[in-house]
Amino acid sequence: MRELVTTDPARAAECLGNGGLAALPTETVYGLAADAEQVAAVRRVFAVKGRPAGHPLIVHLGDPAALDDWAVEIPEVARDLVAACWPGPLTVLLRRSPRVSDDVTGGRDTVGLRVPAHPGTAGVLARLGDRAVAAPSANRFGRVSPTSAGHVVADLGDRLDAHRDCVLDGGPATIGVESTIVDCTGVPQILRPGGISTDAIEAIVAGPLAPRSGPSRAAGMLAGHYAPRAAVHVVAGPDAAAALERALTGRTVAGRTATVRIIDGRDDLVAWARTLYADLRRADDDGIDHVVAVRPPAEGLGHALRDRLAKAAASAPTR
Ligand code: TXA
Ligand code: MG
Repeated sequence: MRELVTTDPARAAECLGNGGLAALPTETVYGLAADAEQVAAVRRVFAVKGRPAGHPLIVHLGDPAALDDWAVEIPEVARDLVAACWPGPLTVLLRRSPRVSDDVTGGRDTVGLRVPAHPGTAGVLARLGDRAVAAPSANRFGRVSPTSAGHVVADLGDRLDAHRDCVLDGGPATIGVESTIVDCTGVPQILRPGGISTDAIEAIVAGPLAPRSGPSRAAGMLAGHYAPRAAVHVVAGPDAAAALERALTGRTVAGRTATVRIIDGRDDLVAWARTLYADLRRADDDGIDHVVAVRPPAEGLGHALRDRLAKAAASAPTR
């Protein structure tokens, strides 16, 4: 039987060209890709993920120069952002060109575009020439994003077909949280904090940025998302974490004492971003009932970490 997982970018490009799906490594998280212009393949991405139609997909390009093929009315600020950040963890939201289908954008007249920075996936996109791939994160809808090929197989392996699909193993993601999404269709606004810090975006925009309040709010972004099966709690500091751990450990879940794990990566936010999703998955694998996270500071990758933890905490535990 053919293996689902491969390390060969040529096979991933072949799957995509033939209308199959390929899970692709990126520096942020793994994506589940389809040729952006093959409607049946794009629809299968939604089916495989269990993602409701109408939640738009990011279109991934191999070359920043392809920007003008996929978007129109591109403002200078978007050009500045992509010049500074691509390839890299930035998604810009722009008016879509006629090449972008309703299936990709859920009928919106905007498209999210990004050039990922990963050598394996760059190799796939180069082989696809002037085509592009639409790809959401390669997890089941609502769950924790995958930062390794093993995570993708654990989530979606039984829904993919090794004869037409594949998972390109490009090693663990180096950034570990999703791209920063900046809406450039009006006054620029960060819709989702991510791999490029808010400070860096502000420095590049060098002008007004529309304020962002509350959790990320791009279309299809629900309050509850990025969730492990365990209940996630976010607390202000280590003392509060220890107190909550004591309180929760006294409880019983299904006739046994609840298990609690504290996570606190504030001493190195870059390392915390890289490992957060793997740590949440490991907590589930280890049968942990409650994850207590110490809230990261609002600096650097701390904005993205706060956002993901708040969403994980807003989701009802399924354990
Ligand atoms: O780092 C990333 O961005 C990863 C990797 C695979 O590139 N992708 C990713 O995709 O996180 P996904 O689908 O899990 O999240 C993308 C979010 C969607 O939830 C949606 O809210 C927003 O991007 N988005 C994409 N296109 C949009 C559009 N046209 N209008 C509004 N929001 C859009
Ligand atoms: Mg996602």
